[in-house]
Amino acid sequence: VGEGSDIGEVLVAAQEIIPKDMESYANAFNMLADRVQVQANAIDAVKFPFSARKAYFRAASYYRSADFFLHGNWSDRRIDALLAKQTTAFNMALRLMGIPGQRYNLTSMDNQIQIPVIVYNSGIPGPRPTIIMCQGYDGSQEEMYHVMGKAALERGINVITYEGPGQPIVRRDQDLGFIYDWEKVTIPVVDFAVNHAGVDSQKIGLLGYSFGGYLAPRAASLDHRLAAVMAIDGVFNFGQDILASLGPQMRELFTSGKITKFNNAITKVLASPDTPTEAKWAFQQGQWSFKASTPYEFVNKSMAYDLAPIIKSIKAPVFVGDAENEHLFQGQAQELAKALGPLAHYHFFNATLGVGEHCAVGGSVLQNQVVLDWFEETSARAAIKQ
Ligand SMILES: *[C@@H]1O[C@H](CO)[C@@H](O)[C@H](O)[C@H]1NC(C)=O
Ligand SMILES: *[C@@H]1O[C@H](CO)[C@@H](O)[C@H](O)[C@H]1NC(C)=O
Ligand SMILES: *[C@@H]1O[C@H](CO)[C@@H](O)[C@H](O)[C@H]1NC(C)=O
Ligand SMILES: *[C@@H]1O[C@H](CO)[C@@H](O)[C@H](O)[C@H]1NC(C)=O
Repeated sequence: VGEGSDIGEVLVAAQEIIPKDMESYANAFNMLADRVQVQANAIDAVKFPFSARKAYFRAASYYRSADFFLHGNWSDRRIDALLAKQTTAFNMALRLMGIPGQRYNLTSMDNQIQIPVIVYNSGIPGPRPTIIMCQGYDGSQEEMYHVMGKAALERGINVITYEGPGQPIVRRDQDLGFIYDWEKVTIPVVDFAVNHAGVDSQKIGLLGYSFGGYLAPRAASLDHRLAAVMAIDGVFNFGQDILASLGPQMRELFTSGKITKFNNAITKVLASPDTPTEAKWAFQQGQWSFKASTPYEFVNKSMAYDLAPIIKSIKAPVFVGDAENEHLFQGQAQELAKALGPLAHYHFFNATLGVGEHCAVGGSVLQNQVVLDWFEETSARAAIKQ
């Protein structure tokens, strides 16, 4: 849909994957990425810019996929190498767009964090509604372009993607893990957007994807220039969600502060061949992206990610998505919608309609229809009020 991949290629890679073997996943996607990168380089980009762009975008996606399961070992050199490869391929594709996407680096207010940004212009003249988009626990801003960015541009909505601590570029280049006070990296992006040519400053939306369903509402509680906020899907209290996923024994060890016992117990579970890959990945990715050297430290850090204390400071309407088959943040969207009260626009993504997975993965055409139509109407209403 968004030029990020092609199903036949992905199925070829999938055949090489051995269940529970993360290395085989990395190898399969690395091989696919290299192959598509060679194809991309072989295309005369002057003669065939569309073909070259599409090949570079796919190569970039596959390099990101190759990296997905590698974060259990922070010294693994492939982590940086694959980011460099995906960035080179993605930048080639950006240059081949009708209106090339532009990268910028912004700085946080305290000057401690560099914020990587990509700006995409829809090509429709005049100030346009604009959506600022951020990813979540594992995704990248490049992926965000394919998932929702391109669909927004097609509708004449300009798009700005960004990353903060914990997310791919900032985690690697600046060695920074997630921060609960996401406004630190979001307010500078809104400042930038307000002053950027082509942005209608009265119609700026903020969209958070996956764990971004916590990050975006958190930032919106401290930035009231936003006409609309979108949580795809809603997350209200991340720490409680992690605790709930642990089961009663681990939970007891954690809450009673038995740090060593907790770490040993989790480490044992993660080492067991019976543990589902998804659970293993959730901890490895959590420790990596929160920059927590132990499981306890990760769970402890997650406790700060709670919207309850700031929920009343949110002033903009919030689209709260909820997925019927949600497996990571069960019940969280409903809690967020309840706490927001009349500001929430709760939408249940129904599995029968093909949009029931986490973030409606696999059903982005319908999801984009629902979310982006809501944004267009809501931002237009907000602009009239001002
Ligand atoms: C982690 O990766 C480094 C660098 O490739 C390697 O030397 C080390 O053995 C790995 N550690 C584990 C536990 O696999
Ligand atoms: C942003 O900073 C990074 C270093 O962290 C650098 O590699 C990159 O080229 C910079 N991008 C722009 C657009 O200045
Ligand atoms: C747990 O988190 C609190 C609050 O962030 C922090 O003060 C404390 O040092 C953390 N404890 C451990 C053992 O990491
Ligand atoms: C999901 O959609 C189907 C088909 O339109 C409908 O029959 C069903 O009631 C919906 N389920 C929920 C929970 O809304």
